[in-house]
Amino acid sequence: MIKPEYCSDIAKTGGAMIKNVILRTENLSKSYQMGEIEVKALIDTSFEIYEGEFVVILGPSGSGKSTLLNIIGGMDTPTDGRVFMRENEITAFNEKQLTDYRRKKIGFVFQFYNIMASLTAEENVELATEISEDPLDIGQVMIDVGLGERRDHFPSQLSGGEQQRVSIARAVAKNPEILLCDEPTGALDFTTGVTILSLLKKVNREMGKTVVVITHNISIGEMADRVIKMHSGEIFEILENKNPIEPERIQW
Ligand SMILES: Nc1ncnc2c1ncn2[C@@H]1O[C@H](COP(=O)(O)OP(=O)(O)O)[C@@H](O)[C@H]1O
Ligand SMILES: [Mg+2]
Repeated sequence: MIKPEYCSDIAKTGGAMIKNVILRTENLSKSYQMGEIEVKALIDTSFEIYEGEFVVILGPSGSGKSTLLNIIGGMDTPTDGRVFMRENEITAFNEKQLTDYRRKKIGFVFQFYNIMASLTAEENVELATEISEDPLDIGQVMIDVGLGERRDHFPSQLSGGEQQRVSIARAVAKNPEILLCDEPTGALDFTTGVTILSLLKKVNREMGKTVVVITHNISIGEMADRVIKMHSGEIFEILENKNPIEPERIQW
């Protein structure tokens, strides 16, 4: 059931397709006080993410991308503004609600994988599903991410790309509403990076997950349904890609 105040956030595209807003921000700002100096990491940022989209947030280093992702992921709080996941205001949540939100609604993927060295690939995924509400079948997810043969390997026995697959499996197996990925290819060589982007695209297309990828790499924007461009803490442009390209055709 769509609440009345929510209706204005439904965008109609082309024909009969209706896009539902899954997440939106209202005038988000974040400042840090560094002695005498106020660092404005995020300035009056408003945007929407639609269900089922593949969105790239693009901007140079220091433009506020991680700050933004951390706030919408419930890991950080803004100085001003609000975040909504569907009809719920995340920025009004207490600590317990925020913990629940992070555990159940969000899948995180980071540049340096952040998986546990003492656990096998599959145990890393299992651990995450233990705190989630409605997890997917772990064995199937391991196969889906291309780790069917490697599930009993420890991180030290896996390549960087495989470790990133573990972290994607971990995020996906929780069956979250949305996947938030902060520079997921930042530590990988070009070829491996492309395979990881293909996997994220597969998660988006075949598992129907909404995916947000943060990057400073302009080329990655070409595979997105929409590109949100940031500079100096501000969104200066939101582009829609009518024909996003397949990750395999990206060059950088
Ligand atoms: N904890 C912090 N304390 C002070 N300044 C910070 C902190 N986190 C981020 N910043 C500053 O906020 C700005 C945006 O940073 P960040 O969101 O990490 O950008 P990006 O992810 O685009 O590289 C930068 O100027 C950064 O130095
Ligand atoms: Mg960053």
